[in-house]
Amino acid sequence: MTKYKPISEKYPHFLHGGDYNPDQWLNYPRILDEDIRLMKLANWNVVSLGIFAWAALEPEEGKYQFEWLDRIMDKLYDNGIYVILATPSAAPPAWLVQKYPEVARVDSNRVRHLFGGRQNHCFTSPIYREKVRSINRKLAERYKDHPALIAWHVSNEYGNDCHCDLCQEAFRNWLKKKYDNDIKKLNHEWWSYFWSHTFTDWSQIQTPSPIGETTIHGLNLDYKRFVTDQTVDFFKNEIAPLKEFTPNIPITTNFMGTFPGLNYWKFAKHLDVISWDSYPTWHGNEEDWVVAYKTAFVHDINRSLKGGQPFMLMESTPSVTNWQLVSKLKRPGMHALSSIQAVAHGADTVQYFQWRKSRGGFEKFHGAVVDHCGHENTRVFKDVKEVGEILKRLDPIIGTSVKPEVAIIYDWENSWAIEDAKGPRQEKKDYLLTCQSHYRPFWSKCVPVDVIDMESDFNRYKLLIAPMLYMIKDGVAERIKQFVKNGGTFVTTYLSGIVNENDLCYLGGFPGPLKEVLGIWSEEIDALHDKDENYVVFNETNELGIRGEYKTKELCEIIHLEGARDLAKYKEDFYVGYPAVAVNNYGNGKAYYIAFRNNDDFVDDFYRKIIELLNIKRSIDIDLPIGVTAQLRTDGNKEFVFLLNFTDEEKALDLKDIEYIDIVDNDILSGKVILPPYGFKIIEKGN
Ligand code: GLA
Ligand code: GLA
Repeated sequence: MTKYKPISEKYPHFLHGGDYNPDQWLNYPRILDEDIRLMKLANWNVVSLGIFAWAALEPEEGKYQFEWLDRIMDKLYDNGIYVILATPSAAPPAWLVQKYPEVARVDSNRVRHLFGGRQNHCFTSPIYREKVRSINRKLAERYKDHPALIAWHVSNEYGNDCHCDLCQEAFRNWLKKKYDNDIKKLNHEWWSYFWSHTFTDWSQIQTPSPIGETTIHGLNLDYKRFVTDQTVDFFKNEIAPLKEFTPNIPITTNFMGTFPGLNYWKFAKHLDVISWDSYPTWHGNEEDWVVAYKTAFVHDINRSLKGGQPFMLMESTPSVTNWQLVSKLKRPGMHALSSIQAVAHGADTVQYFQWRKSRGGFEKFHGAVVDHCGHENTRVFKDVKEVGEILKRLDPIIGTSVKPEVAIIYDWENSWAIEDAKGPRQEKKDYLLTCQSHYRPFWSKCVPVDVIDMESDFNRYKLLIAPMLYMIKDGVAERIKQFVKNGGTFVTTYLSGIVNENDLCYLGGFPGPLKEVLGIWSEEIDALHDKDENYVVFNETNELGIRGEYKTKELCEIIHLEGARDLAKYKEDFYVGYPAVAVNNYGNGKAYYIAFRNNDDFVDDFYRKIIELLNIKRSIDIDLPIGVTAQLRTDGNKEFVFLLNFTDEEKALDLKDIEYIDIVDNDILSGKVILPPYGFKIIEKGN
């Protein structure tokens, strides 16, 4: 494994900075000067500039005003601060929406938005596309040779859909293409015979609506796919002038973790570098280390989206958000720890929303590096400054990554289908939570994991885990079979192999096209009430050597063996003695089926055995206390291990007699090491 290139060759170091909105402060020249002094003090070397600055850049149609931006860009550059320049399409100015109402989106209940808010424009409107292209062209032309420009921040958090007439037409065209202009084919794939919803003409088809159609699952799925495609198409229109004038400047747009509205796997292909906005709720109802592994899961998605290429932490809060139900301050240590967590999972930047609190408006109480007091003598400012100090010492880590032997499938389209399904439960479907619960043991045992979708390449892994793989798209089962045949280990669970990509149930028994590789047939699924109890007991001589019994919850599938061996059985109820965990030999590999929903004790014990059995590489070969993890980044030669303590207690680790270099404190470490509460160490394995 070699290193990836830095995000910008112009500045091959960790980027530290964030959203900067000087357009709000143009009447306060002293504040703008003070910003520069304070940014340098805070160890900032980058800003995301002008994300919502359209009104300041084009105050009237076709009348552009760039002088203020020229001055800011020059001043930033003169002071060693680089610019990720934004395109302003996320918030059209008032004149534009007033003159061209078609640019405002229409909700699913068919009500058109007025001017206001943000991120509520139509993605299809030719006028909006033209206006966006024009301003983006002006920006690209003007700043293409500016030495401060290192990347493009396109729009902001794409995410809304639109149901206007233009979008309806675009959707119908999308469908015609998908179904070869054959409406009978569409009726079959959507099973629209149900309740007599058969379409006889394309013009009858409407996007899903609470006052219209929501019950055709194939339609709902296709609409979601269309929204992703249409958003990507809008994005391609946005970036055309950027690519034309600045072909070597990387382009990104900020993703939102597991935001359900867009399939980021489809979007990712069109970005040069992935970036995302991370806002975990620390110190809330869940223990911090639980929040930490769930956040780690999302960081790993972002690294996996481009096969391991380092990503950007585009936004995080320097202190609090203003939109979480309770805006609790980060406890001492948490700011640095959560920033370094992103780096540990592959981020080459630590960036924030926002530099300075806006004086008025919606986000005036959202955390910022500079508070309304306006000076540097605050806890938050010092925390940010300290992160900048640490990042300066991490140059050798730039461009490094990790090649996990384990992958978990978390698939957007599968999540859409599960959410839409009526049954077997209406609540606690919990696809994401289930995937995260299967991720947890690897986080605790410091085994690196990729989080991929079902269309990713499986061959680079030893272990492939696909919890609740309800939807299996064409070709996926074949690739899983091939993976196992070649010696891979596959693990899946209840509620897998139920529907095809259009949400039609597989005929001939579940888990559909996975029956053969798993060697089982699933006859029924029992949904449990919270008061219901059942247990799964491991067979005394099971080949994993797991002992004892585990509680079931929520879902218990009743399966029959068709070639597989059972490892554990249900203890009670009418399906007592039925297999609950099964394994099948297939080619050179093995496929496991976990028929019941379980608690952490089960996944911990099960995967501990699998990790041992497959001899899976860990980030570091030591025992870690609960709440502490270790993550790895390497260039194939040097190994950097991040030891992260997500508890409010001091934790002792034993590095044994191996010597490591502490690259933050520039120390040699071995033997016993203490991590303070919310403390961390970044250590390099000496050669
Ligand atoms: C009602 C309806 C049926 C069916 C069942 C499902 O009885 O009449 O068409 O939807 O509910 O429980
Ligand atoms: C998002 C947006 C930012 C800001 C933050 C607040 O990430 O992109 O503009 O609103 O949320 O947390």
